[in-house]
Amino acid sequence: MSASTLPGTPPAPRTPTAGNKGNKGNKGNKGNKGNNLTGFTLTHDLIRRAVPELGRRLANAASGGAPDPAAVARLITWWGMFTTILDGHHTSEDSHVWPVVLAADPALETVSRTLEEQHASLDGHLAGIHEGLRLLRDNPGSHEPGLSHLLARIAEFDALMYDHLQLEERTMVPVLRDQVTGEAYAAMLASLASGHDPADFVPTMPLLLEQAPQQAREFMLGGMPAELRTRYEQEWEPAYFELLATLPAA
Ligand SMILES: [Fe+2]
Ligand SMILES: [Fe+2]
Repeated sequence: MSASTLPGTPPAPRTPTAGNKGNKGNKGNKGNKGNNLTGFTLTHDLIRRAVPELGRRLANAASGGAPDPAAVARLITWWGMFTTILDGHHTSEDSHVWPVVLAADPALETVSRTLEEQHASLDGHLAGIHEGLRLLRDNPGSHEPGLSHLLARIAEFDALMYDHLQLEERTMVPVLRDQVTGEAYAAMLASLASGHDPADFVPTMPLLLEQAPQQAREFMLGGMPAELRTRYEQEWEPAYFELLATLPAA
């Protein structure tokens, strides 16, 4: 599996000509498009979309009273796909992406520490949301005040995520795109990909690509070995859309 398909991370172009061929870093990067951040951008778009979507789907599931436990169970499956992507994104930022950004601009050290601390705190909220969903599924008759607390927690998580993404996009992302050299960027992606089994994350990719423009979709899937892509298109993506069709309305 090529590094370009690792979700939750910023994949490299399949050919070195799509923007970062001439990226020699720092002052040498003027006049080209920088490193290709398609996967990173798709992940941030997904985060902004999926968290409020969970709140809306949950509220709709309970619009007639206690939510159906089977509907909550399906939401948990959907949300579990999202948290797999988000966990991978946070982990790869802390372990690989920020160190590469800091090598290009050491002045971002404090921001990097802040982002890492925010990841830990956001993980706590994720655990709380998961627990709230589980309680709702397992105790369908007594859904209040748990449901109201859960919806409030999701809204709080959404606001925190929004600020977190903005901080990254204001500070780290411009350096990652324009100052990290193409070589350093490709090496980072190769290192990230070598630590992952594709079977762990490819099944979650239909959620990541659900609303992706055609060009971004092809970019993300294009480097996949044929056998894996066949499974993606014939198995995982149809299964995802089947699940989506059975979720409470968004
Ligand atoms: Fe982050
Ligand atoms: Fe991020």
